[in-house]
Amino acid sequence: MAAVRWYFVAGHSHDNIDWDEHLQRLRDADEFNAPEVAELVAALLRPTDRSVIEIGGGAGGTAAAFAAALADSGGALTIVDSAPQLLAAAGSHAEQVADRVDVRAVQADAAADSLVEAVGQQADLVIAAFVVHHLPDQLAGLRRLVSLVRPGGRLAIVEFGLQTKVLPADVGIGEPGLEARLIAAREEWFQQMRAEMTGSVRLPMGWAKALSEAGLAEVRSWSYLVDRPAPVDRTGREAVLRRLHLLRRNAEDRVAPEDLAVLDQLLDESSEHYAGNRDDVYYLTANTVHLGTRPAV
Ligand SMILES: C[S@@+](CC[C@H](N)C(=O)[O-])C[C@H]1O[C@@H](n2cnc3c(N)ncnc32)[C@H](O)[C@@H]1O
Repeated sequence: MAAVRWYFVAGHSHDNIDWDEHLQRLRDADEFNAPEVAELVAALLRPTDRSVIEIGGGAGGTAAAFAAALADSGGALTIVDSAPQLLAAAGSHAEQVADRVDVRAVQADAAADSLVEAVGQQADLVIAAFVVHHLPDQLAGLRRLVSLVRPGGRLAIVEFGLQTKVLPADVGIGEPGLEARLIAAREEWFQQMRAEMTGSVRLPMGWAKALSEAGLAEVRSWSYLVDRPAPVDRTGREAVLRRLHLLRRNAEDRVAPEDLAVLDQLLDESSEHYAGNRDDVYYLTANTVHLGTRPAV
């Protein structure tokens, strides 16, 4: 089995989030999203691609899928993250399936210009899933990621398409429309998270246009669903509960106390309304991939 090569450079995130605390949540989400991530990797990797850099790899589900896809050709995979425990988990996860793949794990800050030197090489494909929106200057971040792409190679980012839905419109307690109000509160949280970053810069354009501005050609976008209709199995129920806990954290102080009380009942195992026992919860989200090519010089 291939050994991971570790590189540690000073790095931290800028969003006031302690990402290492989210290891278990990201690991569980990786397990849940594995079928869609495997399809995404198959769609992104060209037969001639030998090297991949993943920025902000979380618990390593995407990295492991790339490692598996590169295994036959014996390619190279570099995982970059500012959170040391996530990086360690992602490196180990990729290593377990990597065999002939050269896995490097680099602790570095994607918002710092030192990123390029820390990574030290370019790749056929650079991918960043749900990461660029955590950088203070997203366009500068994209330009930095483009510089990690070899001429003729490609950058893919994955960002939110549609907000995740898990609840029926009327959950039977409180006012109908609870989830819509929680989603509105999460949008507010998101804007505040961005605004509070030191050096936060607005990105007044869509992602595809931003990729073009960052120097990429042949930019295109597509979306894929993560669709688990009711009734959901164990992993689906766990995903619903993870989503409701996330909304609980984001919505606190932003929705009426009555809505928060209903949400707490949905999260209370001893409540007759516990979401984990309901057969009408589901999981539906749409993620969008934006892909562009670095022109060959
Ligand atoms: C929302 S998670 C996404 C994880 C993974 N890509 C996924 O799809 O599950 C954001 C990831 O980006 C990392 N991250 C956040 N800010 C970063 C920065 N400035 N430099 C490097 N990584 C960063 C976090 O540590 C975390 O692993």
